[in-house]
Amino acid sequence: MKSILITGGAGFIGSHLVRLFVKKYPDYQIVNLDKLTYAGNLMNLKDIEQSANYVFEKGDIVDSELVNKLFEKYAFDSVIHLAAETHVDRSISDPLSFVKTNVLGTFNLLNAARMHWKDSTGKLFYHVSTDEVYGALKLGEDTLFTEHTPYDPRSPYSAAKASSDHFVRAYWHTYDLPVVLSNCSNNYGSYQFPEKLIPLFINNIKNNKALPVYGDGLYTRDWLWVEDHARAIDVVFHKGKQGETYNIGGHNEWTNMDLVHLLCDTADQELGRAAGTARASITFVKDRPGHDRRYAIDASKIEKDLGWTPSIRFEEGLLETVKWYLNNEAWLDNVTSGAYQDYYTKQYT
Ligand code: NAD
Ligand code: TYD
Repeated sequence: MKSILITGGAGFIGSHLVRLFVKKYPDYQIVNLDKLTYAGNLMNLKDIEQSANYVFEKGDIVDSELVNKLFEKYAFDSVIHLAAETHVDRSISDPLSFVKTNVLGTFNLLNAARMHWKDSTGKLFYHVSTDEVYGALKLGEDTLFTEHTPYDPRSPYSAAKASSDHFVRAYWHTYDLPVVLSNCSNNYGSYQFPEKLIPLFINNIKNNKALPVYGDGLYTRDWLWVEDHARAIDVVFHKGKQGETYNIGGHNEWTNMDLVHLLCDTADQELGRAAGTARASITFVKDRPGHDRRYAIDASKIEKDLGWTPSIRFEEGLLETVKWYLNNEAWLDNVTSGAYQDYYTKQYT
């Protein structure tokens, strides 16, 4: 039985990936290591937590002793590393947490893999990263981030992710550690903590609160359905070439204003409210410092080399997402009240 360590599996993308792997690969033992920060929510995995091939370990990747003990205990064949501090706004107010988890945590995992994988046959260290490491594109240009775009991180979040990417590549070149990386654009879908744009705005619309648009609202992101990202990780993990990087994106650029308008109209319809109700709550607020103007991914390498393509149109995915947050009131209430943080104690201890 293959033993795979997935870090950050209680988070947004991690929980989708854990669910996919637990269901699709009954022969793999999936060990989910997660510190359960504010962003970690074991309720995201309620439907698979009893599966025979799934184990949860609560712990911090910054704790190298714990990481090494887990490598001894489970003899991992592979690591798929997602655990990170991920919110740009938080990285502006508390950059040190990002350095600790994203840089030191990744470094600890790399070291543990290096020490325990004396024979690297059949082993793989997969770092799941972000397109934000490439910096900012200009609005109105048709340039895209490729795998060769020079790194130019602008926020403490992206600087920390860029640093961890560099360490992963350094371990490949220096110690022959078998690695693969992917850099993905903005994800959306179910189980995302409602601090990020889409779930925050759905929750605010539901509760008739203001919708704070930063700056002029013309910032542009390339949105990808989270389940398509999980499928892409599956493909890169199984078919990707060692030492390579794969960009993952939806060819789906939206300015924040266009996206927010679509979101408002979709939510009004789902809530049975008059057209224009949600748009009336849009409020322009002070811009985020260092706000990256535009992200857009050239995903042709993963499409051509590994045969992955996005499966769902944005309008369709956004409708599904709005429906999911509105229909899963208990999940949203538990997250906004903080009650989700008791789930581990109640269920696991
Ligand atoms: P998230 O914030 O929803 O989840 C992060 C998870 O990591 C949480 O469960 C948290 O408890 C855990 N974690 C944090 N610090 C930890 C630590 N020190 N030790 C162990 N666990 C810890 O994040 P996400 O949006 O699911 O992103 C997952 C990964 O994908 C990140 O590495 C992120 O950089 C990358 N990524 C995210 C996006 C996106 O749009 N969300 C896009 C591209 C890449
Ligand atoms: P976010 O979801 O934080 O992702 P990222 O900054 O990693 O791309 O933000 C997406 C875009 O939405 C980004 O341009 C910032 C903007 N934004 C707002 O305008 N208002 C908000 O309240 C938030 C959270 C984001």
